[in-house]
Amino acid sequence: MELGAAATVFLALCLSCLALLSAWKRLHQGGTLPPGPTPLPFVGNLLQLKTDEIFKSFLVLREQYGPVFSVSLGPRRVVVLCGHEAVKEALVDHAEAFSGRGEMASIDRNFNGFGVAMANGERWRQLRRFSLSTLRDFGMGKRGVEERIREEAQCLLEELQKTRGLPFDPTFFLSRTVANVISSIVFGSRFDYEDPTFLSLLRMINESFTEMSTPWAQLYDMYSCVMRYLPGRHHRLYHLIEALKAFIAQRVQLNQASLDPDVPRDFIDCFLLQMEKEKKNPSSEFNTTNLVLTTLNLFFAGTETVSSTLRYGFLFLMKYPEVEEKVHREIDHVIGRHRVPASEDRMKMPYTDAVIHEIQRLTDIVPLGVPHTVIRDTQFRGYTLPKGTNVFPLLGSVLRDTKYFSSPEEFNPGHFLDENGRFKKNEAFVPFSSGRRVCLGEGLARMELFLYFTTILQRFALQPLVAPKDIEVSPRMSGFGNVPPTYQLCLVPR
Ligand code: HEM
Ligand SMILES: *[C@@H]1O[C@H](CO)[C@@H](O)[C@H](O)[C@H]1NC(C)=O
Ligand SMILES: *[C@@H]1O[C@H](CO)[C@@H](O)[C@H](O)[C@H]1NC(C)=O
Repeated sequence: MELGAAATVFLALCLSCLALLSAWKRLHQGGTLPPGPTPLPFVGNLLQLKTDEIFKSFLVLREQYGPVFSVSLGPRRVVVLCGHEAVKEALVDHAEAFSGRGEMASIDRNFNGFGVAMANGERWRQLRRFSLSTLRDFGMGKRGVEERIREEAQCLLEELQKTRGLPFDPTFFLSRTVANVISSIVFGSRFDYEDPTFLSLLRMINESFTEMSTPWAQLYDMYSCVMRYLPGRHHRLYHLIEALKAFIAQRVQLNQASLDPDVPRDFIDCFLLQMEKEKKNPSSEFNTTNLVLTTLNLFFAGTETVSSTLRYGFLFLMKYPEVEEKVHREIDHVIGRHRVPASEDRMKMPYTDAVIHEIQRLTDIVPLGVPHTVIRDTQFRGYTLPKGTNVFPLLGSVLRDTKYFSSPEEFNPGHFLDENGRFKKNEAFVPFSSGRRVCLGEGLARMELFLYFTTILQRFALQPLVAPKDIEVSPRMSGFGNVPPTYQLCLVPR
């Protein structure tokens, strides 16, 4: 090559390097995004983060940069919101702007933006409206579904009776009964507790939730561009969710074959009828892809969240037997030993209500929140978040906000009681998040938690295998979700 040409190439290289560098600077240090640690190219702030303790790592950064900061998860820049005020200001005061769903690379390859929980824009609006109204028609938050939960809770009691006071792991006892409630809504029927298909579905759901909370999933969310092509454990989650998807697709076919337009039996039937109605609309969001994935969202979210909360709840109650004792007394006083608990009892049971709130607060099922994104360029606290910026509303930091909870790290039902023992609302109680994306199953979940806790505690006392003070309550794993410790207990008839 000629010297002149070589020099030109060299110069061009230098110039593009400079351009890249300044683009990098604008992206990462420009005055527009909230402050944060300086990221290295590709590595981002990985050196400041522990992938197995990502929530705690964020709290450390908050000490230095304040409640709103930017951090690079590998090459991925996200804005983190800590504490009640910042999260509320975003999700509630700027509700529309912050209503987008952010990226979760570890499951995006299963969902591809389809299904209500991962969708955005018009697709999300239509699926959300449809799902809410259909769940309501099937009695969510009303009589119909309450009856269903009460029946299912009685089936659980029978099953628990069979343990005869011997030690057992409650995981699948709880997930089977809870999954049957959402099954009745989406599939129109419950499963037999011994049904092997049902058990394998529940194992897959438990395992998916655990996999989503491993450091592997954290790394995948950061480096999906590379890890997608590397072999390893991180592919397990993909295959689990695909298997769940296949099961639901099969159920959809069964429904399709026996559909009676005059008598929709369940959520799937309603969706099929809506597809039929919009058949001529080419831009309709009601097609099989969205049907299968929305049903999966409901089935998955409707099972793992409630059953993990119950499982964690029993552990807290065993660690604090004086709390369990007071719940027993309130149940005996308000409901008695024989009548089946009903959701209207809750109003007369402030202590039990406070205990359930406190259990949800410390279970803190999704500590980082589910990622959001701003759907347009957004001014927030003097910063400019460009459209598409991913935002983590750190729900765990709201549930432990020292301004709203006097002893945030302690299990203390007093956080939700006034000096006269009446139930006291707390605006930083946000396990279901808030704003436009607030959990779609909140009403159902709250009803289930109340009915299951009271039904079980009316009949049984919990007995740990170790002394209460030795019960370890830190999550077994903390990533996307907090996974409760594995444990066994005995149930003693009262
Ligand atoms: C203890 C129980 C539950 C907890 C703590 C919980 C919590 C959450 C949270 C934190 C979100 C994310 C909200 C956000 O994006 O900011 C969410 C979303 C969602 N939840 Fe729940 N959930 C529970 C039970 C349920 C149940 C029983 C169902 C099923 C009916 C359900 C269905 C959904 C769906 C479909 C979404 C996505 C909503 C959207 O993106 O628009 N959840 N939930
Ligand atoms: C749930 O899944 C995890 C991860 O695969 C596993 O370690 C755990 O034992 C499972 N829970 C139960 C009760 O089997
Ligand atoms: C459903 O619609 C989307 C476009 O909105 C399309 O990409 C997808 O393939 C469709 N699914 C089916 C099964 O037709």
